[in-house]
Amino acid sequence: MAQTVRDAVLHNPAMARVFERHGIDYCCGGQRPLDEVCTEKGLSPEALIAEALPPTEPDIDWNQAPLPDLIQHILDRHHVYLRAALPELERKLVRVREAHGATDGPTLEELGRIFIGLRDELMSHMAKEEQILFPMIQRLSSGLPAPMSLDGPIGMMEYEHESAGNALAAMRRVTSGYVLPAHACGTYSALYHQLAELEADLHQHIHLENNILFPRAAGIRA
Ligand SMILES: [Fe+2]
Ligand SMILES: [Fe+2]
Repeated sequence: MAQTVRDAVLHNPAMARVFERHGIDYCCGGQRPLDEVCTEKGLSPEALIAEALPPTEPDIDWNQAPLPDLIQHILDRHHVYLRAALPELERKLVRVREAHGATDGPTLEELGRIFIGLRDELMSHMAKEEQILFPMIQRLSSGLPAPMSLDGPIGMMEYEHESAGNALAAMRRVTSGYVLPAHACGTYSALYHQLAELEADLHQHIHLENNILFPRAAGIRA
């Protein structure tokens, strides 16, 4: 039997984002054959599957690269990702809660509560980095004096990273490691997959800041 749109998402949850990008309904209309939907949209199934592959990262040694390049990479790769992923995750949480609140209410409520706290914290956290700390590091790395010590802003960012890490761990605990219940639909599956993706991306993002950017910036000042 031909692979359906729903099968494609269940087999590879990253397909959910690709289908959304192309306006393909993978949830309620997900039982339609993938070939048929692609023909209708003038797309090839192979091209859609290729779109779901993670982009390859250029092999850059961030311990050596200029700090403004590292900052630009963090902004382009991680801050842009969060600004797109956080609202999308919130929409999915609402849809899953509407559809599965009767059976999974307490888990989904708790998950939603932790997620919203994390989202609010990350949005203000990124604004502080973009408006205060990163411009200070850029000034220092081009030989100009910073208007104040980096200690305070770096300490604050590290504290907020720890809080974000705690929220990620709590979401993983509440969902028993993102294990889907047997009755999960395509949106549920995409939600859990994308939350796990958020976790992996934030771990990488925080690593670049805590372990590379901040110590290197502190070194310029010394
Ligand atoms: Fe950041
Ligand atoms: Fe950060």
